[in-house]
Amino acid sequence: MAMPLVLRSVKEMRAYSRSAKQSGSRIGFVPTMGALHRGHLSLVEAAMKECETVVVSIYVNPTQFGRGEDFDRYPRNLEGDLNLLADYRVGAVFAPLDSEMYPEGFDTWVQVGRIAQPWEGTCRPGHFRGVATVVLKLFAIVEPDLAYFGEKDYQQLLVVRQMVRDLNLPVEIRACPTVREPDGLAMSSRNQYLSPDERRDALVLFQSQQLAQELVDRGEVDAAKITQAMREHILRVPYAKIDYVALVEPETLQEVTTVTRPVRAILAVRLGGTRLIDNMEIKPKTS
Ligand code: PAJ
Repeated sequence: MAMPLVLRSVKEMRAYSRSAKQSGSRIGFVPTMGALHRGHLSLVEAAMKECETVVVSIYVNPTQFGRGEDFDRYPRNLEGDLNLLADYRVGAVFAPLDSEMYPEGFDTWVQVGRIAQPWEGTCRPGHFRGVATVVLKLFAIVEPDLAYFGEKDYQQLLVVRQMVRDLNLPVEIRACPTVREPDGLAMSSRNQYLSPDERRDALVLFQSQQLAQELVDRGEVDAAKITQAMREHILRVPYAKIDYVALVEPETLQEVTTVTRPVRAILAVRLGGTRLIDNMEIKPKTS
């Protein structure tokens, strides 16, 4: 297929969306920071199934990175991304400059409450404020009917849903399952940072969640015991640093004490200079 149309200004993007809507198209929107992989592309496919017009944004949003985080070295490869998207039915790619998104004098922020506080919110202060702000801006610019987010960033998905509910945004949020490498590692643009040894060791994230499900299948319901076993498995990699490992309520992200309903295992682990997150649904024994 042809290379997608690349739009760099808010004005052009809005004109494109308005005209697509005029012709009766539903707009499906996939916000990304680029360095696209099959995880991102699965969102594009989901959008293609439901929407006549698909818009992808590629923008490394500076306001969601903390000081000392990887904003400067975050992988940027617009050319490669556009080549990947050429195989999909994408109407337009919105790739704005910082000056377009955050012009001189920008001074309004979206602060989502409780759901944004724990876990990633604690480890990365200000992160969700940057995410919510840029996602609201993107929604205001693209005016999508549907927007697609990955379960890979589970807390982000809940933060966006909360914002959409609270601010009455006229967009439906769709959640798409996590796409994994054949060995189970969740796809992420940050996997590029891993050395070959770290890439091998990164499997402990996936394995620890599988272990949690196995323990539950064998009748364990005590969340503390399960998370302890997960930690021990992860720390078989001696240089791994655990930010958090928890079993939580899927809607509130509050930690559970027992696994008697479906819960979410969530975890964040640093391997060398790379911080990885993952999550998985853990289901109680049915029998
Ligand atoms: P980014 O990390 O590029 O992710 C863009 C979207 O792709 C997110 O909804 C994310 O959950 C989804 N995604 C990433 N890896 C995935 C995987 N392995 N399987 C399924 N979906 C996956 O998330 C962001 O960008 C930014 O915070 C953004 C929302 C664009 C705001 O700047």
